[in-house]
Amino acid sequence: MTTLHLNANNPADIARAASLLRAGELVAIPTETVYGLAANALDEAAVAKIFTAKGRPQDNPLIVHVAEPLQAISLVKAFYFTAQKLAGAFWPGPLTVILQRDERVPGIVSALLSTLALRVPAHPAAQALLRAAKVPLAAPSANRSGSPSPTLASHVLDDLNGRIAAVLDGGPCTVGVESTVLDLTREIPLLLRPGGISVEQIESVLGQKIALSPAVAHALPPGEATPSPGMKYKHYAPRAQLTLVRGPLEAFIAYAKQEKPDGLLVFDEDQSTVNCQLSTVNCLRFGDAPEAQAKQLFGKLREIDGLGWQTALVRCPPKEGLGLAVYNRLLRAANFREVEL
Ligand code: TXA
Ligand code: MG
Repeated sequence: MTTLHLNANNPADIARAASLLRAGELVAIPTETVYGLAANALDEAAVAKIFTAKGRPQDNPLIVHVAEPLQAISLVKAFYFTAQKLAGAFWPGPLTVILQRDERVPGIVSALLSTLALRVPAHPAAQALLRAAKVPLAAPSANRSGSPSPTLASHVLDDLNGRIAAVLDGGPCTVGVESTVLDLTREIPLLLRPGGISVEQIESVLGQKIALSPAVAHALPPGEATPSPGMKYKHYAPRAQLTLVRGPLEAFIAYAKQEKPDGLLVFDEDQSTVNCQLSTVNCLRFGDAPEAQAKQLFGKLREIDGLGWQTALVRCPPKEGLGLAVYNRLLRAANFREVEL
């Protein structure tokens, strides 16, 4: 199959993408977080194609995207008060809520779980496409299963060219890490995946503390059950072996001298010191503020492989705000290899 390269700024291309989706084809679409691999969520055969194209395990459920909260309400058994408050504050935007699935939505979407993950994306092209397609869209990140999520149309093509009908190119994603996934079916809301909306933001809207799944910031002991099926898989991983290093810059530099990795991924503010003291080591930078780090993270992981590095040391970001999402992705990209200095 030839994968069409469509332009999100061209209304005719939006219409083309919508008709492909209505015909049961797969189209990669831009969202504010990462590119998604979309199919009509109400078409079981179309959704099945997503799992094949990505090489995604069948037991890993998908997020359903809709244009507005009213549409979300029609896909679940009950739209709880917590969901109403969060939707009012953060939709459209990078928050996914888990509620009880209505039978209208085929079980394959949720890997046969009784629940459903829902989100209203903010990206104008995603909004335009959802309105043109007039169907809810199931969409995981548009990468091959296990590799870093795509934040450019070229990343999508690197992974899925020839396996999907089209990619709708909307330029770089502005948030850069995926949505926050929050399970609202429990007495206390449970954070399954940190993402574009922070724990602090959610707690301030709900006026209560939420629970954090143990898998958010730690490796799970082998065999331990996880409430989010996606958390147990190897994720976001470049081919290079990464090690996440927590500690002051001077200690990081001393450790790098001893370990002699092929390269370093450091904050912008570290660059000049690292250059002076480690002039022979290759260095990539990914911003100082968590927003900049989030936006650049997945692109840098792909760049590391492009440069052919076998090993890299990564400076560990703080775990507050959006930093928790950056840390969570890096920890998985490093296969939970973390050193504290
Ligand atoms: O920002 C995002 O969320 C992007 C864009 C495309 O919207 N999508 C995305 O999808 O990241 P994906 O499939 O890569 O990640 C979805 C996560 C997985 O960890 C999955 O296990 C979890 O959400 N999930 C989906 N449905 C669930 C459910 N019913 N119960 C528990 N976890 C669920
Ligand atoms: Mg993904």
